[in-house]
Amino acid sequence: MSLDRDFIVGLPKAELHLHLEGTLEPELKLELARRNGVDIGQTAIEEVRATYDFHDLTSFLAVYYPAMQVLVTEQDFHDLAMAYLRRAAADGIVHAEMFFDPQAHTDRGVAFSTVIDGLWSAVQEAPSLGVDASLIMCFLRDLSAESAMETLEASLPYRDRIVGVGLDSDERDNPPEKFSEVFSRAREAGYRLTMHCDIDQADSIGHIGTVLHRIGVERIDHGTNIVEDPALVAEARERGIGFTCCPLSNSFVTETMKGREIVDLLRDGVKVSLASDDPAYFGGYLVDNVVALAEGMDLTREDVARLARNSLEISWLDADRRAQYLDRLDRYVAG
Ligand code: HPA
Ligand code: ZN
Repeated sequence: MSLDRDFIVGLPKAELHLHLEGTLEPELKLELARRNGVDIGQTAIEEVRATYDFHDLTSFLAVYYPAMQVLVTEQDFHDLAMAYLRRAAADGIVHAEMFFDPQAHTDRGVAFSTVIDGLWSAVQEAPSLGVDASLIMCFLRDLSAESAMETLEASLPYRDRIVGVGLDSDERDNPPEKFSEVFSRAREAGYRLTMHCDIDQADSIGHIGTVLHRIGVERIDHGTNIVEDPALVAEARERGIGFTCCPLSNSFVTETMKGREIVDLLRDGVKVSLASDDPAYFGGYLVDNVVALAEGMDLTREDVARLARNSLEISWLDADRRAQYLDRLDRYVAG
């Protein structure tokens, strides 16, 4: 079978690195701005798109965070997540673990309960679209460890709605060890752990070593700079550490989509999966990312099936669900 888009759409797969706030499409952004009477400085789609001019992580985040002020009510958070889940279903995603950034909202006076209630009602509705969904709470690494700890405390009454915690926003001068206490508390509370190790940061490889050895994450978001240290690659492979790589995002915040690194890790037996990061800003959803990498790196059918398999294997689904989806994947690839 040729490696066409339909084959990729049909692969049962999981999306594990998706920021819900990064799915805010210009249309919905303008609609919510109107609905809530928020002046974002733009009133037309083209004006919104014209602000999407970034060349690195910092310049992206400078556009990304201010846009969130249009998200105010529980309904807004529900609508945001439902819009993404409909796209996920169309992409053949059977399971989505979706990041959200509570501090980006609580710092503006939106209650934690407003955010989580709106997102949770969408998670509950997701199975009607054929998608299993769950939520991962990210801490903003450019804010203090105390603020992250307060956010962790605020989340505990909702522990059963959140599968794990992550770390995002600006990595520069905000190394993983800043949050080691917060992450060990999160682990004690039963949360699964992942962290961003963004592309080409100052001391990327040092940060990757820290998240593997000191924080004890199960997955790393991005993390392809690990190729700089073959001993760490071997360790990640042996421990089955998952990587969630985002080619289109990479090509916005660096010079390339880091295709060589992603494919080398994949073919080296590291548990690499693909994801879309902030699809409303980086020009594509999950299937667009797989197609971009497949075309750019001449991937085989086995490669893309392996990427889908890895996404299910490193997901935080319960064992029965995971086995069902893997079985569905095997039958699809065989058929
Ligand atoms: N890295 C850091 N912060 C982010 C990202 C990312 O990929 N996406 C949204 N916030
Ligand atoms: Zn990300």
